[in-house]
Amino acid sequence: MSTAYTNDEIAALQEKAKRHLWLHFTRMSSYADSDVPVIVRGEGQYVYDQRGKRYLDGLAGLFVSQIGHGRTEVAEAGARQASELAYFPLWSYAHPQAIELADRLSAMAPGDLNRVFFTGSGSEAVESAWKLAKQYFKAIGQPNRYKVISRSIAYHGTSMGALAITGLPGIKEPFEPLPPGGVRVPNTNFYRAPEFVADDIEAFGIWAADEIERAILREGEDSVAAVFLEPLQNSGGCFPPPPGYFQRVREICDRYGVLLVSDEVICAFGRLGYYFGSERYGYQPDIITFAKGVTSGYAPLGGMLVRDALMEPFSQGQSTFLHGVTFAGHPVSCAVAMANLDVFEKEDLLGNVRANEAAFRATLEKLNDLPIVGDVRGDGYFYGIELVKDKTSRQTFNDDESERLLRGFLSHALFDAGLICRADDRGDPVIQLSPPLTCTQEHFDEMEQILRAVLSQAWTKI
Ligand SMILES: Cc1ncc(COP(=O)(O)O)c(C=O)c1O
Repeated sequence: MSTAYTNDEIAALQEKAKRHLWLHFTRMSSYADSDVPVIVRGEGQYVYDQRGKRYLDGLAGLFVSQIGHGRTEVAEAGARQASELAYFPLWSYAHPQAIELADRLSAMAPGDLNRVFFTGSGSEAVESAWKLAKQYFKAIGQPNRYKVISRSIAYHGTSMGALAITGLPGIKEPFEPLPPGGVRVPNTNFYRAPEFVADDIEAFGIWAADEIERAILREGEDSVAAVFLEPLQNSGGCFPPPPGYFQRVREICDRYGVLLVSDEVICAFGRLGYYFGSERYGYQPDIITFAKGVTSGYAPLGGMLVRDALMEPFSQGQSTFLHGVTFAGHPVSCAVAMANLDVFEKEDLLGNVRANEAAFRATLEKLNDLPIVGDVRGDGYFYGIELVKDKTSRQTFNDDESERLLRGFLSHALFDAGLICRADDRGDPVIQLSPPLTCTQEHFDEMEQILRAVLSQAWTKI
């Protein structure tokens, strides 16, 4: 299929984009003198722009396209559903697609996470989990529990509640005051661990987990409702949990009656080689929040999987969880999610990630010979490459250098070279990769080659 637009079509779209479209988290001024990148088509691991130029989708869109692009069977499942029942709410009614998907997800989820509350997005899932925690504790006679603990630099979404949980001061500040109760603890970046645990990853993990206990005690142990943690923290550049970290966190949560919410908006559905990130790292959450990969982006959907016990107060008498959104569990999205999960099973995508993740890591680790590469870290198909000014001292870039390097050069240069990935400086500067789960060695090599060329060039510009 040809994707190339004519020059007139390109110019017309550019003009409309610049005049009317507002891109998210984007400095719109940066497109004043250059084209807005417009992606028109996807196939497998690749997407194509208006001119027909091909890009390796090294970020799966935005940690979304697990099965890759252009799967007609998934698209057709959505079309069939739209013809049969395009929409009906989950407010007092159900539809077969939400029922079947809830049943399937419950069977896949660890332990007694058997109840699915659908949303339309990840932020809504996180928001819902906090609201559930608050109302649940009120319902069981612990009304003072409303605070939520999360890690610094962690991203948990942008709606006001989710933003209060997010640990990135820069994107919170314009919206202060946020809902009260967000409490921050250190993240698990071992590369930048405090000196007293810098040589011992297990001690580092225990220290980081114990910081959660210290926060609970500091805040008042009967005031904390939940701890929100990603299995592998995305923002800041892919921090895997140190060994023992989650086991210790689980113990602490149990000791103080605090809920453990595993925010798996990125890490669920194969990103780490398992349906759920908590499975990979061997811990049992009370709530899992999910979105993105549940549909591989063929339609929007999110939700939370909840332990039976958290539903109990709401299954008796006049009690109701007082929360809902119009498009939650949209029939088309649920049908698409079922077809997406069929592809996972048919093609054993979890098996593909597990079989190839060591090769992905080894290929990216070749970049360690570049002076700008400080650390390559991650798991599964989810990696961060931390960039440094000095490898030995691990010195990072100052704000000006980071601005010039990431925004001024790397983002554009990587895109121009045909790789979609993320150059992020919300923590220390990192490049992030999160490709479709269908990728194999040829795609790892392509990523490595493009990164090698562009990072080598970046070094000459510092
Ligand atoms: C861990 C985590 N939680 C929540 C969100 C918010 O999801 P959404 O953008 O769908 O609202 C994200 C988005 O990337 C995320 O990574």
